[in-house]
Amino acid sequence: MAVLAGAAGLVVTCGFVVPAAQAESDFATPNSLHVRKDLVIGHRGSSGYRPEHTLASYRLAARMGADYIEPDLVVTKDGVLVARHENEISETTDVAEHPEFADRKTTKTIDGQEITGWFTEDFTLAELKTLRAKERVPDIRQRNTIYDERYTIPTFAEVLKEAKRLSKELGRPIGVYPETKHPTYFRKIGLPIEPRLVAELKKAGLNHPNAKVIVQSFEVSNLKELDRQLRVPLVQLISSTGAPYDFVDSGDPRTYADLITPKGLREIASYADGIGPDKQLVIPWNPDGTLGEPTRLVRDAHRVGLKVHPYTFRAENSFLPADFRSSDNPAHYGRIHEELEVYFDAGVDGVFTDNPDIGVEVRDDEEN
Ligand code: G3P
Ligand code: CA
Repeated sequence: MAVLAGAAGLVVTCGFVVPAAQAESDFATPNSLHVRKDLVIGHRGSSGYRPEHTLASYRLAARMGADYIEPDLVVTKDGVLVARHENEISETTDVAEHPEFADRKTTKTIDGQEITGWFTEDFTLAELKTLRAKERVPDIRQRNTIYDERYTIPTFAEVLKEAKRLSKELGRPIGVYPETKHPTYFRKIGLPIEPRLVAELKKAGLNHPNAKVIVQSFEVSNLKELDRQLRVPLVQLISSTGAPYDFVDSGDPRTYADLITPKGLREIASYADGIGPDKQLVIPWNPDGTLGEPTRLVRDAHRVGLKVHPYTFRAENSFLPADFRSSDNPAHYGRIHEELEVYFDAGVDGVFTDNPDIGVEVRDDEEN
């Protein structure tokens, strides 16, 4: 858990000097005199508009007003952190079209699931850099496919550098909200994510309570370990089903459902500063697919001092509750503004969204 001390005068954020009030932690206590905006987190950048986890996607998110950009992190064969949602890369790159890598296609068990494809840990960074990113869901986001094969896979260091550059360009600190992907798996193959993450943050001068950085994970033990090494806020991600894979791996019978009981939330508050739940844990969908009533999760989390940043808000009908869809066409935009309004009204402290421009508009409308 980060030290949440206030700051006076000027501080350096992302290597960029900004007024202290602007640069303070976004995890100030509820008693803080400062009124803070809820956060808009550019999920995988601005993945509603650009292929995810590319510098172009992060750049657009920041220019649209996102407070944070969100890189998911995996590791290369030579130990470099790169931004991908998973270590199997055929969904989001053109790797399958590279005959020189055809023999790298293989089947592995990742977090208990058998997966066939190409894996970042089997490629050096130099090899990965020869690939190009592509849209993950071309049927739903056809317009994004015009950007296919324009962008490379960025390293985490490049994402931090871009956030620093964008902070200067935009005159406000652009935060970075990295997620460790498959931490138990990468530790077991000798390529642990956490020491690399700590080293990169320290190298960039970002391991201090006022750094605009939040670290997130679906696993628990790595966050507890990071709590001893990092001075930035930590967020425990909570899936709507299953259990943290480190629990599964170690035989701990607890599930995500156990983590969001009052007792589970108290334990999270001992090492983390917030939770990132599936949005349906905040407001579930009814059996007919319409949006239901808020659960007690926001209230219970706030009671133990945890911020709540649900995921993932997306404009297409495919991802919206039935009563917020505009038509039967899964690719058409539905009433995401109204969905976001309901969640801000339910008291969340930030949102992960593929459409940061809409997140900012709704957040700012709510606060005006
Ligand atoms: O990290 C918040 C959200 O991104 C979690 O879901 O699967 O998109 O990484 P995912
Ligand atoms: Ca993520």
